[in-house]
Amino acid sequence: MASALQLRGVSAGYGETVVLEDIDLALACGECISVVGRNGVGKTTLLSTVMGHTTLHSGEVTLDGQSLNGMPCFRRALAGIGFVPQEREIFPSLSVRENLGIAARPGAWTHARVFELFPRLAERLDNMGNQLSGGEQQMLSIGRALLTNPTILLMDEPTEGLAPVIVEALTAVLARLAADSALSIILVEQNSRVALNFSPRTVILDKGRIVYDGESAPLRADPDRLAKLIGIVE
Ligand SMILES: Nc1ncnc2c1ncn2[C@@H]1O[C@H](COP(=O)(O)OP(=O)(O)O)[C@@H](O)[C@H]1O
Ligand SMILES: [Mg+2]
Repeated sequence: MASALQLRGVSAGYGETVVLEDIDLALACGECISVVGRNGVGKTTLLSTVMGHTTLHSGEVTLDGQSLNGMPCFRRALAGIGFVPQEREIFPSLSVRENLGIAARPGAWTHARVFELFPRLAERLDNMGNQLSGGEQQMLSIGRALLTNPTILLMDEPTEGLAPVIVEALTAVLARLAADSALSIILVEQNSRVALNFSPRTVILDKGRIVYDGESAPLRADPDRLAKLIGIVE
């Protein structure tokens, strides 16, 4: 299968600081992967590097075979990369309707389809961003990214800080997104249960390097191995 997104020998960070080292990662069209790892290992930096928010020290990022090196962030978004940042980045003084419309582009993802996924957003259309709960903000951030009609969706810890019942609801939505064969997804998750159930393939990062890239199932079956790989136990 053709790679939708590929990182080859990528080292990247912030200014002179190198965070990611020698990352090789390929995502096929329609494929979904989870990325797990402790705090500070470089998960957000990985997504930021795909979006063009970091300093690339070496290597290449390609989308459908085209190099993204040097391409500004907004062009990457236009090229089909949707981003749901860890901070959600909802515009607090814009309504839900305005937040959703801000980067919407025509395509398979319509407002109606987003409301079908998140009925709550349809009920809150005229509320301001700062009047939403954490879960609603996360729904809005995901809905807004879907309305850009991306071919690749990057999600950075969407369940972070949410109540268990909201995490369960969001997990069901993630499963529906994963079933959409038109969408490739990289899901960064601290919640390893959510991550390992989300996709058949999991990537584990430790200290800026990939220490595991393979099937999720053996990790689900062996919590001790998972804990060792993540570096929770020696
Ligand atoms: N804007 C930044 N400038 C400098 N260093 C940063 C910046 N953002 C993150 N870092 C550093 O990069 C490393 C990886 O951070 P990050 O990618 O956010 O990790 P994770 O998402 O896995 O928690 C950390 O050591 C962090 O302190
Ligand atoms: Mg992070």
